[in-house]
Formats: sequence, structure tokens, C-alpha cells
Amino acid sequence: MAKRRFLITSALPYSNGRLHVGHIAGAYLPADTYVRYLKARGDEVRFICGSDDNGVASLISARKEGKTVEELTAHYNYRQEADFKGLGIVFDIYGGTHQPDFVELHNKISQGMFKTIYDKGYFVKKKTKQLYDTQADQFLPDRYVKGKCYQAMPDGSPCGYEEAYGDQCEHCGRAIEPIMLIDPVSTITGTKPEPRETTHWYMQLPQFEDKLREWLESKRQVGDGEPAWRETVLNFSLGQIKTGLPERAMTRDLDWGVPVPLDDPDAAGKMLYVWFDAPIGYVSFTARHCELVDGDWQQYERWWKDPDCRIVHFIGEDNTVFHALTWPAMMLAEGSYQLPWQVVANAFLNVKFPGKDEEKISKSRGTAIWIEEYLKTFDPDPLRYYLTAVAPENQRTAFDIDDFINRNNTELLNALGNFVNRTLTFAQRYFDGKVPDADTRETIDNEHIAAIAGQAEKVTENLEAFRFKAALAEVMALARSANVYFDAKQPWKQRKEDMGACGTTINVCLQTVKALTVLMNPFLPFSAARCKEMLKLEGDILPWDEVTRELPAGQKLGEPVILFKKLDPGELFNESAK
Ligand code: MF3
Ligand code: ZN
Repeated sequence: MAKRRFLITSALPYSNGRLHVGHIAGAYLPADTYVRYLKARGDEVRFICGSDDNGVASLISARKEGKTVEELTAHYNYRQEADFKGLGIVFDIYGGTHQPDFVELHNKISQGMFKTIYDKGYFVKKKTKQLYDTQADQFLPDRYVKGKCYQAMPDGSPCGYEEAYGDQCEHCGRAIEPIMLIDPVSTITGTKPEPRETTHWYMQLPQFEDKLREWLESKRQVGDGEPAWRETVLNFSLGQIKTGLPERAMTRDLDWGVPVPLDDPDAAGKMLYVWFDAPIGYVSFTARHCELVDGDWQQYERWWKDPDCRIVHFIGEDNTVFHALTWPAMMLAEGSYQLPWQVVANAFLNVKFPGKDEEKISKSRGTAIWIEEYLKTFDPDPLRYYLTAVAPENQRTAFDIDDFINRNNTELLNALGNFVNRTLTFAQRYFDGKVPDADTRETIDNEHIAAIAGQAEKVTENLEAFRFKAALAEVMALARSANVYFDAKQPWKQRKEDMGACGTTINVCLQTVKALTVLMNPFLPFSAARCKEMLKLEGDILPWDEVTRELPAGQKLGEPVILFKKLDPGELFNESAK
């Protein structure tokens, strides 16, 4: 297999709160699964993430929690990173756009990009009216204005959503200019804000419509080893171009963020718009990583400017406009970056508590399942399993507590865990903890061995195409067929009649456990690590092409351990866990 190069990113979480299952299912778990697969394949990969600290969201949360904004973002940056680690989501670097170790390089690269785009003439300076909260005595950040949406739906009818935010309308998905909202209200004080004059730099997005359209259209075709993008991402982005991209102000009146790098007196006290600097965080964290491992931050160009490297952004659907349109437009305007190879967006995840209706995840209504809370009681793999099994890849799905428990107990425990356990226990008890000989394989045995290779191919194909849910289903299909094989061969009977035939069965089962170990590793890394020990496989990484390489007869095995525990609904997500 030729070695490829990938730069993988997960959306930078705002460092003003904790992470819940919806975040994980959207932008982090699928990315980690993909990265683990690529690394097993032997591809060269960097997996980049960190916190989005500069948003005004952090400022407002800091005010609420009585902390400085530096304290607040450092606090959540740390807690979020711990959540990721606890779930086995392992980045090559975890930065933060305003964290002490990163802010200097981040500001330099962000300001450099702004200056280049400015020098090329893609910004227009404009004096405009913006909403000012006279009670809070500040210009209102986009997210802190709510009002009725003025945008049109794709069919031309008015959206009219009453709860649209000043940056984006959750109903029609379009970007919003807060000043245009109908009946705006400040969400900081609840008062009606008034328009005041201010100066900002607007990026000429309409100038990039043709190039963006061409690029996005090219992603519809399935190329050689290049999977087509998800329809949802393409339809949304191309739809926006069709109705016309707006000019976007890329500066803000704020005192927290990346200072606008212009000598102009009108730029004094202004910061870059958070959605301008946040995606540059991907670049600056890569640069910081290069500084740490290569001793030269400028090596980031090998990842960001060399078309041999494939850039893949994993995001939640609400980030689509920024990753498929605004950020690529910035890269085009700057001129030396290559565009993302894939933008993988997931829909939102709802929740369903026992005896209740399916509902949206909401912090204020207490319907969020927090990762910190989950990890206090449960192992990470059952959550990874469930969030992939119900992944909102093409539409909203729900985290259903009953279903979570049920799938843990029937699929993980009864199918996968049971097969591994009965095989290893059998080998331990009757074959002296060693891989028995298999020189008398018959048709049924050979068919099962062939099925392993067939399933491995299906898993690979689905992973290459970002179909994680389907890939996991094929892993589980192999586990189920392995149980069918075990039952058909009845080694517990063979043992009394023909030890050679019994050895063949257990040998084939152990080959299946090995294949399952390789295949489950991207999805269930903790369980795969336990299987690895039971099989006494060496090395940190389980190479993907090991999947069909057989364990030699006579190899010593480790102690059998239980992979999954039975879960009981009673212990899960009671009121105190919320
Ligand atoms: N903080 C944003 C969110 O949680 C995501 C930022 S992604 C980046 O919605 F590209 F801007 F970094
Ligand atoms: Zn709308």
C-alpha cells in the first residue's frame, strides 16, 4: 500500500463549557476513528484540534462565572482535553487559540493571513451601523442578538424564524447580518439594542463564488480513491452560492481576540472576527506541532500548501457554511493554501430518555449527557460503539438510553465479547493457552477464513468513504458470523471425539479474534488493546494489513479477560448524573 499523507482536523470547541455526547458524535469520534484507521494503514497523519478561545462567547461566560476570560478558557480547555483523552480521542496536538503556548504563533499566522488578503484588495473598509447595547455599554456580538430571520428559504419563500441568532439562522442555515434582523433583542440584557456607527473590514466573498462552485462541483464525482462528499454538505453549500454569498465583516469591536493588524486609526481597539481566526487555529496548531517535533514552525506548509497532503475537516453541520465556503474563500484569497480534500459534516444528535419523547440536547433544560459524568461510571468503548452505531451521518439521530443499554448488552456483550471470551477460554482450558494446529481445515473452516478477508474489505471500503456506521456494522457482522461458526462446529463436542478437529476450530476462531482485533481498533481502541494482550501481539500499532495474517500454531496466548460489562438501566443517567 502506498503511503499517503493526511492532515485531519476536528472543529475547535469553544472553551466556555463542557462537552456532551452530541459534540463527540459530530466532529470528534468519527475523526478519531478515521485517524486510527489511517495510522494502522501506515499513512502519514497529523490529527489537529484545540480550543476556540477568542469568541465573544468566552467573554460573556467569563463574566457569568466571575472569572477572567484567560482563566475561563484555560479551565475549559483543560477539562475538554481530559474528556477527549478519557474517550480515547487522541490528537497529535491539542492547542487553543488564546492559550499561553499557542497564542503568539496563532496571532502571527492569523494577522499574516489577514494582511495578505488585505494587500490583495479583497477587503473593503466600510462605515456601518451596528447594534449597540446601551445598558451593557458595548457593541453586541453577533451571537448575542436574536431576532426574526430576514433570509429566504431555498424555494424563495421568507424564512421568518423568530429565534435567529445574529451570526446564523438555525432554521434556514444562512449567515445573518445582525443589523438586518427584524425586531432584534440583546440576549445579554434583554433590551432592544440601538444602531451605532462603526468601521469594519468586509471580505468580498462574492468574488470567490465561481471558484468555490467549481471546486464543490468537482467533489460530486467519485474519483480514484477520492470519495464524493456527503450530499448534505454539497447541496447546502452550492445552494448558498446559487442565492449569492454576502460580503462578511471580518473585524469586530471587542477587547479579546487577535488584534486587527492595520496602521489605520479606525482599526484601533478592534479584533479579527472569531470565525476568521478560528479555522486559522488549525494551521497555527499544526505550526506549533512542527515547531515541537521538527524544530521549525514553517514546516506547516508541508501539510497546508502541498497538494500531496489531503486536508480533511470533521465538523458538526452548523459549521458547514464556514468550512465549505468562508474558510476556503479565505484560503483562495490568501493564494498559497490548498483547499480541503474533504469536509465531513454530521447532523445533530437528539436525546431520548426512558419514558420521554426524543428531544434536542439542551444545557438549560438538563437534557445533555456530559462526557465527564459518563466517564465517572462507564467505560469509553460502549459510548464510542453506540455513537458510531447511531451516527448522525446523513440526518439527525438520537441517543436513546434504552437502546444504548440494549445494544451494549446484546451486540457488544453477547456477540463480540462473548465470541472473544469463549474462544480464549477454550484455548486456555483445552489447548494449554496456545494456538492449536489447524492442518485439517475443511470447507466450512476455509469458508469462514475467506469470510474474514471479505469482511475486512468491506470495512476498509466504508472507512475510506467516511461511512463509519456502515464500517462498524461490517465488523459486527463478522463477530456474529464467528459465533455462528463456533456453534456449528461445536468444539465442546469435538473435544471429546476428535481433538485434532477441535484444534482446527479453535485455531480458526483465534484467527477471527485476531482479525476482529485489527478491525475493531479504530472504533473500540480500549477493547482492541485488551484483545491484543490476550493474543500477545507486539508493537504499539496494529497494522491494518495484519488483519488476515494468521497467528502461528503454538503461539502462547495471554490470560482471557472480559471485554464488556452488562449495563443496567437503573445505574444510568439518573437525575444526579445530569
Ligand atoms: N467553535 C466552533 C463551534 O464550536 C467551531 C470552530 S471550528 C474552526 O461551533 F474552524 F473555526 F476552528
Ligand atoms: Zn432563517
